[in-house]
Amino acid sequence: MNSTSSKLHQADIQHHLHPYTNARLHQDTGPMIIERGEGVHVYDTQGKQYIEAMSGLWSVALGFNNQRLIDAATAQLQQLPFYHLFSHKAHAPSIELAEKLIEIAPVPMSKVFFTNSGSEANDTVVKMLWYRNNALGKFAKKKIISRKSAYHGITTISASLTGLPANQRGFDLPLAGFYHVGCPHHYRYGLPGESEEQFADRLANELETLIQREGAETIAAFYGEPLMGAGGVIVPPRTYWQKIQAVCRRHDILIVADEVITGFGRTGKLFGCETFDIKPDILVLSKQLSSSYQPIAAILLNEDVYQGIADHSGVLGTFGHGFTGGGHPVATTVALENVKIIQEERLVAHAAEMGEFLLGQLRAFESHPLVGEVRGVGLIAAMELVGHKVRKTPLNGTPGLLGKYLVDRMQENGVINRAIGDALAFCPPLISTQIDLAQIISSLEKSLDQTYAWSIQQ
Ligand SMILES: Cc1ncc(COP(=O)(O)O)c(C=O)c1O
Repeated sequence: MNSTSSKLHQADIQHHLHPYTNARLHQDTGPMIIERGEGVHVYDTQGKQYIEAMSGLWSVALGFNNQRLIDAATAQLQQLPFYHLFSHKAHAPSIELAEKLIEIAPVPMSKVFFTNSGSEANDTVVKMLWYRNNALGKFAKKKIISRKSAYHGITTISASLTGLPANQRGFDLPLAGFYHVGCPHHYRYGLPGESEEQFADRLANELETLIQREGAETIAAFYGEPLMGAGGVIVPPRTYWQKIQAVCRRHDILIVADEVITGFGRTGKLFGCETFDIKPDILVLSKQLSSSYQPIAAILLNEDVYQGIADHSGVLGTFGHGFTGGGHPVATTVALENVKIIQEERLVAHAAEMGEFLLGQLRAFESHPLVGEVRGVGLIAAMELVGHKVRKTPLNGTPGLLGKYLVDRMQENGVINRAIGDALAFCPPLISTQIDLAQIISSLEKSLDQTYAWSIQQ
């Protein structure tokens, strides 16, 4: 390590509390400091090159040095570096992005509300649902149904929507009024002999039973990612969404699609709602919206939802909610340019084609003794590792052991991806070529062999 990077390393340990990090462990290990990016690659302070097989945090669709995005941001900083949207103010970039999102939305939508992050967007949606139902005089209709293993963020409300223990344990969450039904992962939760479709029926029945128990008049919305990302890249059974939507519609329960990961081509269609035939009342977008070059999220509301909110703001005098940076001119400029590039360069079709290649390559490992399941759709996939293939149990009964060992070997072998427990996630930038993906696979092959050799010593 040269002296500059050694200084940075020490300063990081001294001054940073990192998100999603064991702070005690970090004091010993310190950070991996990334210095620059180019295409699908990032480089650390030692100059070592890595393929970013997670697109950062499932988000850098266009790679790490897109000149059009950099130019758009620079020009907007010169033109108007900040203005807000409070109390009837507006600026062209936010208006144009809102117009674009309404134009390309997978179902007819009416209005767009901007936030800085996916978590803020999901917090905002729940507040909007409560506000609207108060306007409609449905004062009891406030509960929200989400799912186990769902990820919707980490603010107080969004962490209550999230169905992962790490985001709730130690935080006195979830809040009251948030319910979690079963995760649609057939490989893990299907009963012996139960087909995927029977499994989907069982989950729809579970939802129906919960609604009957609580009373539909107390439930505002069902919340879901078209496919679960941070919960382990869980692809639901083919008819799952059709069955869940039928139950919700029967009981006047709105559907919120959280497309923070699945939006903008990730699943091989522009939106995950198209891939899974979901007709949401509210749609949440972020991450690939701006390739994360700027923090931004967008909430799209249909006309019916909007009207309730608008009415109530008329009665109360204001919609008393908004973020200083929401709809920021630089963020909305970058997002608009990013969406245009995805369209102009036909990156959705490209992601579908590359995804097929990636999944085919991953499936070739299915017979490996450590591989329990390979799953994915479009350019997002996971490989779940097991200590015992038939029993589907983790190595030495310790979940996450294999995943952590493999992801560390992948990093040594030049690829950054993420282990979610024992599921290794793949979410490479939309611009990835077959050559990039073949490199990821070759690192995987080597790392899997190393992991196997280690596992038999354990
Ligand atoms: C589906 C989904 N929703 C919401 C969020 C939260 O977004 P943020 O980290 O921007 O708050 C994430 C982040 O990974 C996500 O995957």
